[in-house]
This record gives sequence, structure tokens and C-alpha cells, in this order.
Amino acid sequence: MKLRSIELVVPGAAAAAAFLTDIWGMAPAAVRCGTHYLRGSGTDPYLVAIEEGDEGFVRSTTFVCSEAELDGLRGRVAASGLNAAPAVSNDPGGGHGMIVELPEGALFRFLASTEQADPIDGRDLPVQLTHVVINAKDAEVTADAAESALGFRVSDRTKGMVFVRCNDSHHSTAFARAGFSSLNHVAFEMADMDAVMRGIGRLRDHGMAPAWGPGRHGPGANVFAYFIAPFGAVVEFSTAVEKVPDDYRVGAPEDWTWPEGRIDQWGLSDKDNNALRAAEQRFRFRREWTPQPLETATV
Ligand SMILES: [Fe+2]
Repeated sequence: MKLRSIELVVPGAAAAAAFLTDIWGMAPAAVRCGTHYLRGSGTDPYLVAIEEGDEGFVRSTTFVCSEAELDGLRGRVAASGLNAAPAVSNDPGGGHGMIVELPEGALFRFLASTEQADPIDGRDLPVQLTHVVINAKDAEVTADAAESALGFRVSDRTKGMVFVRCNDSHHSTAFARAGFSSLNHVAFEMADMDAVMRGIGRLRDHGMAPAWGPGRHGPGANVFAYFIAPFGAVVEFSTAVEKVPDDYRVGAPEDWTWPEGRIDQWGLSDKDNNALRAAEQRFRFRREWTPQPLETATV
């Protein structure tokens, strides 16, 4: 199981795609029916899909998995009572599976039998997505559903978040204790710390300063730099997220405290809490499909 992509609807899709290619550092993969597909250097056919719409929202966050994993998911999701429907992907890479609505509306799509792309060169391209973080009113309820229905596992809990993994990467998603339900941010994995630093410089060349970072987190130990994209979403350059064993001990908030005045390992940068909190409320989730029994899959 692996996080692959996020599918967004954005007013001004072409401008958002231009920011992600010309400044953020992605490569165009395809434009289909007005949707811009943007990729990184790795084997995922795309990482971000941007579709034009009157209002910004998240259509789905997509994970790819094996047919066996999909079979397991189908049973657990059906038993969970969560809203779900079979799904066939017309996005690059194709595949089939299901889309699931988590308790506060977050939409996770799971696809098997997807095609991969040939990797491409580019030291400033993101390699892949590393995590998509979701805001929740009750992060524990959503995390419980991710564990019981999706087979994900909680890695750590902090005062602010529940970090959840779907493979040996410390987290592929996290649920923030935000008091509302929305997209928190999308994190792109860069090849190394130099690529993160060059990315910060590239955005500075275009008059954009980090909303937070550079820094190194506690849980996951990844390097980060957060920006508010011109199209409104919070995006992150990240690298070096920790790999964890199966028996990783789940950390509790009291395991992840900071000295006075610190909120990351390095303490280099200020965090623009007000701007980030406003941006984190811009992209909600919108379910535009009718729940259906997963047994009726026609694929
Ligand atoms: Fe992050």
C-alpha cells in the first residue's frame, strides 16, 4: 500500500498547474478533459491532479495497492459501515478499486492494477508524495476508522496530530486535531535535504517565503518547509521521513514535548500560524458519488 496522488478541484486550474510546474518544481504529465496531471521523478504517473471548478475542494486522496490488499479492504470497509463505492480510474495509470468516505468526510481512494510510469531525471523534481494531512474535529475517531476499516496503523500521537502509516514510512497521512474537517497540507518528498533547500531558494526567487521552515519534525523526523501556494493550499517540501518497524511503539503526546519556545528539532524558523490556519480551511472534501455496496463492483 502506498500513497500516490491527490485529486483537487481549483478555480484557476491552469494557473495552479503553472505554479506547480514552473515554480514548485513538478513536471507536466498530461492534460485530459481540462484536468492537469503533474508528476515527479518517480514511477507514479502523476502526484497531483488539478481540475477547474468554481470552488476549491478535494475530490480524493489516492493510495495504490495490490489486488490482495484491495480484497482485504473491501471486506473491512463493507463491515465498517463507512460510505464507499466501487471506483474505476480514468486518470493516468488507470486501475480499479474503491473510494471510501472517512467519518468526517475525508475521501480516500484505493486502486489496484495501476500502471507505473518510467522515472524521469530532474534533481529538483519531487520524487513522490510522502503524506497528505487531514484536519478533523475528532482526529481519534478518524484514526480509529483508518485502523479498523483501512488497516492503517497509528505511529504516534502528539498534542496536535495522530500520525498514521500504511507501510514502513512513519506516516503517509495524519489527522490534525483542528476543530474542523479539511485538507491540512500536501507533502512532496524531495530527493535529499539539498533539494529541499534549493526548493526554498527557488520560491524565494519568486518572492515567496516559507510559512514555516526549514525545520525537522519530532515524529517521523522529516525535514520540512511549508508554503501557502497561490491557489490556496498548504504545500510542503519534505525529505528523510523515518522508516519504522512493524513493532514500532506508538508514541503518546507526553513522548513528544519540546523545550520552551521550540516546536521542531532545529528551532531555525518562525511559524505563521494565522496564515497557515486560514489556508488549511480552504479545501474541504466533496463527495460527488452515491454510496454503493462494494459487492456490486462491476470491474
Ligand atoms: Fe507535513
